Amino acid sequence: MPSNTLTITDNRTDRSYTLPIEDGAIRSMDFRQIKTSDEDFGVMLYDPAFMNTASCRSTITYIDGERGILEYRGYPIEELAEHCTFLEVAYLLLFGELPTELELKSWVWEITHHTMLHETTRKFTEGFRYDAHPMSMLVSTVAALSAVYPDAKNVQDPANRLLQTKRLIGKMPTIAAMSYRHNVGFPYVYPDNDLSYTENFMNMLWKMVEPKYAANPVLARALDILFILHADHEQNCSTNTMRSVGSSLADPYLAVAAAAAALSGPLHGGANEEVLKMLDEIGTKANVPAYVQKVKDGHTKLMGFGHRVYKNFDPRAKIIKKAADEVFKVTGNNPKLDIALELEKIALQDEYFIKRRLYPNVDFYSGIIYQAVGFKPELFTVLFAIPRTVGWLAQWQELMTDTEKKIARPRQIFTGARARSFVPMKDRLPAGAVIK
Ligand code: CMC
Repeated sequence: MPSNTLTITDNRTDRSYTLPIEDGAIRSMDFRQIKTSDEDFGVMLYDPAFMNTASCRSTITYIDGERGILEYRGYPIEELAEHCTFLEVAYLLLFGELPTELELKSWVWEITHHTMLHETTRKFTEGFRYDAHPMSMLVSTVAALSAVYPDAKNVQDPANRLLQTKRLIGKMPTIAAMSYRHNVGFPYVYPDNDLSYTENFMNMLWKMVEPKYAANPVLARALDILFILHADHEQNCSTNTMRSVGSSLADPYLAVAAAAAALSGPLHGGANEEVLKMLDEIGTKANVPAYVQKVKDGHTKLMGFGHRVYKNFDPRAKIIKKAADEVFKVTGNNPKLDIALELEKIALQDEYFIKRRLYPNVDFYSGIIYQAVGFKPELFTVLFAIPRTVGWLAQWQELMTDTEKKIARPRQIFTGARARSFVPMKDRLPAGAVIK
């Protein structure tokens, strides 16, 4: 018997099956041969939240949640955050290698020259209500780009995929900034090709009447680091959405819009905005123990804490804490930091959090920096979506060249009623209209 196999005995039939184990995994389809009769469908695997299901093979991002390790294409996140720019990391994620000086120059030029939006898209964003949430505007506007670039439907063509990839990376900050300016009622600012990716974004957000906007270099670098940290995180909820929608061969604007919609939820990228709301609600350091008690009593969650994969410190949270020191030297301390530190201190000593291995995640400290830099909390998740677009696209490109690619289509265990006799209207009894 080969050692890298698993032998299963079906106690219903007393039959044994030997299944190959490859890369620590068993193919779900191998279970379908386990049947009680020829008519039997075969055994399925039930995993409603993908707790233990690998949905793809990937070479992009490696996470060791037990040890708190995160690597992009094999490079530790700490080193990339220290030495690279965001667009350099974007190149690494997409093409698999760090760019040479020449490659980076040409890549930056390409992205910079895809930052403009068609005027009809600008007019489209003007149609939103004055108080529309920037994340809702971002999701809808990215989806609307599908109408601007019908050529994007040609997803089987690698050159076309690359063109749309550059367009999306270039245009995300422009859409994000327009969403913000619309929300606060300021005129839109067009991209400035002389500026770096993050400086240009800050320019489009905050330029007022000055002829040339000059971003504070420390704050621009901090934002660049935050973008690097958020660029990819393997098969999280939004990336899984990107791959799932992409598997139907929908165009990348629609797939990215769907992924961004998944990101907006408070359990995912929306958590950074929720952390700020939570810190506001707590108000002072003295109120922290009472809030922690509320969490332990099950009345609320500690936002920015816990992770499906990390059962140790999220390495991104550590880097963010360091970047925060640099930001606060420029902006002065954010008083919310003291509350956050107290919350972390108390939570990490508490049996409830220790037992469940709940540590601060990337969203716990990012909002405090974002606020210090000058971003409104409503923009925090948009700040997550801009860099994560790179990860979504890298994963989509990987999917499109995967020889095992098929449309994503899970199975279900049907538990409802079957083959009921139709009941005429006059014989129906009120059931209370409870959605089941
Ligand atoms: N506060 C209090 N209790 C928590 C928290 C929290 N933040 N997170 C998990 N728990 C408890 C949970 O109630 C459960 O307890 P019990 O065993 O008594 O039922 C236990 O810990 C296990 O949690 P889970 O919900 O089964 O874990 P999960 O892997 O399904 O969920 C999570 C992961 C990130 C959705 C969850 O930890 C959470 O809701 N955290 C708060 C929201 C947040 O910060 N999200 C950002 C995640 S990181 C960035 C990103 O992915 O976008």
